Amino acid sequence: MENRVCKILGIEYPVVQGAMAWTSMAPLVGAVSEAGGLGVLGCGFMPGPVIAGQIEAIRSITEKPFACNIFLDPGPQLEINCSTLEKIPVPAVYLDTLNLLDYEMASRIYERMHKTGAKVVAKVNCLQDGLVAEKAGADVIIAKGVEGGGHKARISGRVLLAELVENISSVPILASGGIYTARQVAGLFVAGAEGFEMGTAFMTSAECPTHPNVKAKVLSAIDDDVVSCGESTGEPSWQIRNALAEKLIEIEANHPRAEAAKLLMEASAGSLAKASRDGEVENEGAVLAGQVCGLIHEIKTCRELIAGLCTEAEAILQKPHTIGF
Ligand SMILES: Cc1cc2nc3c(=O)[nH]c(=O)nc-3n(C[C@H](O)[C@H](O)[C@H](O)COP(=O)(O)O)c2cc1C
Repeated sequence: MENRVCKILGIEYPVVQGAMAWTSMAPLVGAVSEAGGLGVLGCGFMPGPVIAGQIEAIRSITEKPFACNIFLDPGPQLEINCSTLEKIPVPAVYLDTLNLLDYEMASRIYERMHKTGAKVVAKVNCLQDGLVAEKAGADVIIAKGVEGGGHKARISGRVLLAELVENISSVPILASGGIYTARQVAGLFVAGAEGFEMGTAFMTSAECPTHPNVKAKVLSAIDDDVVSCGESTGEPSWQIRNALAEKLIEIEANHPRAEAAKLLMEASAGSLAKASRDGEVENEGAVLAGQVCGLIHEIKTCRELIAGLCTEAEAILQKPHTIGF
């Protein structure tokens, strides 16, 4: 399945492991890259020295290309990420934003990162951001749909992929959000994607260092167990239903927006670490995962997720009658 995305990023399969704060740590990033995909360090909120230590750990696992996440939002953390990656250049950077992408900021940061020799992977949530990312000089663009894990995007993955493919040709587009089966991957390639990103699936992989209770929670969840929390903060995220999620939903239902946002921040402070580090997934921990949970029922290795899916999807594409036409 080697294509334009593989050539640009120097990888074997056009598969990106989505950045996951404090979850896509060195063991997962190294395993994904070693298996031929692009591992991405979830360092959007990490202090510089921790990022440096993680990069060293990744390099002890693999010599293949990997990326580091930069959260493209004005503030001190953006400078921490950029200056760290200027001091320790890496093969690729993976930039996401929750707000509309600002052209001036995007082109300035992309240029800074290009000067280090890094390829720029831009993850976008809407057509306008895709067009800005292309104009600002992104090397590849990931179209993240509403069903994807972590912070909730706004537009359907199917619609956004089609919009970007129809409007952007100079930069390859990767699909993201809700992806787990070979049939899906085959369909996405037919729809114009030149690669795909998975987050939740990699979180459940054998090599991901997140707490086993988090993986068990994903494996046992059905689609309807994944609920949207934090709409009033303007940065909602998908979480698996538990006591914390119920509490957040209850706060939103019973308080005016501004007050709810404040109470939500207090109730969820440190909740991601409580789940992913301590394994507390029933009461105070937040289990961030996408709607794709309903499809994931077993733990696979990164190699199975990457080479397995691509090989199977390729076979489906070579025998179109198996798709059901
Ligand atoms: C636990 C978790 C944490 C995440 N953290 C981040 C993050 O820090 N930065 C980011 O750009 N995306 C983050 N995401 C989103 C992923 O990078 C990816 O876009 C998404 O998971 C893809 O959708 P899927 O989960 O349906 O495969 C996170 C996702 C999960 C599940």
